[in-house]
Amino acid sequence: MKLLTLLVAVSAFAITFITIAQETVNPGGLATIRGAATIDETRPAEKLKRVIKDKNPIARNYVHQPPVIPHQIRGYRVDLNSNKCLNCHSWKYAAETGATKISLTHYETRDGKTLSDVSPRRYFCLQCHVTQADAAPLVDNTFEPVESLGHE
Ligand code: HEC
Ligand code: HEC
Repeated sequence: MKLLTLLVAVSAFAITFITIAQETVNPGGLATIRGAATIDETRPAEKLKRVIKDKNPIARNYVHQPPVIPHQIRGYRVDLNSNKCLNCHSWKYAAETGATKISLTHYETRDGKTLSDVSPRRYFCLQCHVTQADAAPLVDNTFEPVESLGHE
């Protein structure tokens, strides 16, 4: 009997708690990149942007900016066993493929040691590099690149 009372009490508590939790889901008036959807709402995904095909690379805006990718990457696998990007961009193959060599930072560990192969923290290229697309900025931005990088 005691067990039954306890069960009833626990479920009553759970139901009240869930109801309160549902009522208090509220974006707090913030408009984020997700738009004004509430937290418990799933918005439809944005349309995929069209990748600009094999055009000249977009100039970088600052020295440590990961350059955007000026070519298609559909079907280029990067996983435990293979890294398609390194087939062209590694120091070994860059000369024959005409691809830009990955820079020295890609060989450095987080403790500043330089390895003889790409550092694990630089292995998943698409974590930092994205394909070029004609996309409008998501938020207003007044950033101006410095002249020394060749911008007018
Ligand atoms: C078949 C060879 C090949 C493969 C595979 C390849 N790339 Fe490239 N990539 C190139 C070449 C060639 C260029 C230079 C294009 C140019 O300068 O016009 C380039 C340019 C780039 C650049 C711009 C470099 C700069 O200095 O602006 C980035 C970033 C890049 N690739 C990233 C990637 C990533 C990430 C992958 C894997 C998802 C990849 N590439 C796979 C050949 C390749
Ligand atoms: C953690 C972020 C990060 C990852 C992961 C990463 N990169 Fe980069 N990459 C950068 C940054 C930042 C730069 C700009 C130059 C620099 O700081 O080294 C860069 C520069 C480059 C360049 C231009 C090199 C030059 O001399 O200007 C190429 C090509 C490139 N990356 C390819 C790759 C490839 C291929 C991979 C995957 C094997 C990769 N990157 C993984 C951040 C990253």
